[in-house]
Amino acid sequence: MIEVFKSAYAHASETIHLNNAGIAPWPKQTLEAVTAWSAKLAQGGTSTVGFAFDETEKTRASLAEFLGTRPEQIAFFTTCATAISQVALGFPLKAGDEIVVWDQEYPSNFHPWKIAAERAGAKLVVAKSGSSPDSPLATPFANIEAVTTPRTRIIAISWVQYRSGAQTDLKALAQFARERGIFTCVDIIQGFGANEFHFDSSGLDAVCGGAHKWLTSPLSLGFLALRAEHSELLSPIMVGAMTYGGPDIPSSLEAKMRTGVQKFEPGGRQMLEMLGLGQTLELFKKVGISAIAREAERLSNSIADGLRSRGYQVHSPHGEKIRGAILNFSPTSSSPLKTFEEIEQTFAHHKITFSKRSPGIRLSPHAFNRDEEIEKVLQALERPRG
Ligand SMILES: Cc1ncc(COP(=O)(O)O)c(C=O)c1O
Repeated sequence: MIEVFKSAYAHASETIHLNNAGIAPWPKQTLEAVTAWSAKLAQGGTSTVGFAFDETEKTRASLAEFLGTRPEQIAFFTTCATAISQVALGFPLKAGDEIVVWDQEYPSNFHPWKIAAERAGAKLVVAKSGSSPDSPLATPFANIEAVTTPRTRIIAISWVQYRSGAQTDLKALAQFARERGIFTCVDIIQGFGANEFHFDSSGLDAVCGGAHKWLTSPLSLGFLALRAEHSELLSPIMVGAMTYGGPDIPSSLEAKMRTGVQKFEPGGRQMLEMLGLGQTLELFKKVGISAIAREAERLSNSIADGLRSRGYQVHSPHGEKIRGAILNFSPTSSSPLKTFEEIEQTFAHHKITFSKRSPGIRLSPHAFNRDEEIEKVLQALERPRG
């Protein structure tokens, strides 16, 4: 079945896509669906938009199934950052409350919490990464626990860190937080689509994600899943006709805001992006997330082993084995290529995508990558270009 997955991306294979933690290519069926819907919407205007709208609701249902929750718990946004901002800036924080984040968070999961804390007179507490001098980028839950106090109101961390691939134990987080009434908001964008996940049984209060990385779908689509019991906890930070039920409900001082999570969607939605995500999810569900996750992790370990055997340093936060699909490496005095510049030029020459992310170069294979591609990458790193 994994071959079905790999074949779906064959049209994009001129490039060796090893920056799927950045922006991934789409499967062919997604490209076709977005193209077809673009033509329909361009020609049909009002006469097609209703059908497209209904179709986007199928995407909501499909995402709910894949996430392990119900469609009523999901709201769509323009990006993951907007979804996080909705939780952070819509949360009823009080002066003196504390919010805990990691010190290596992606800025989109740091600044919304910083601003929310500043506005409320709350405090942003930054937990320090590292489990030992050898693992400075590890994110063990114990480090989060160590900085929580009776004032901790929210723990807002990424499941998988964008630079290092370090994973935090979400089970430990959920159990700890539930016992203490602490709200958990987890940015799952770097994990969901390459690792198994089930929202309703996770015990987490909210998760935010996006479509363009491990879900291999169009850029500019984020989402929030919120536990049903919190549906009325957050105030909408963006407000429009849809917040009050839609364009057919006239403006009036008595108009009542919608209930539930979808009141966070104020107006017209990202039709094409949602239609694209819907198609990609069909592929993911057909192949199954466990097979996809297994393959992505196998390929990551294959790269890491190949890098180590060629003298490169792999900055692994989980010991020798790579967990998930993100790895970070650097040249050393004994590696064939000795500088980041040499590696970057070599990758550009061979059309290998990557990302320069401290402390080294991040590679993030997805299950659609092939062993031959990994072999080519490792060969390219075997000697300096003449
Ligand atoms: C942890 C994390 N959150 C969010 C994002 C993307 O956020 P946005 O595109 O909404 O700024 C990224 C992208 O790298 C990320 O790594």
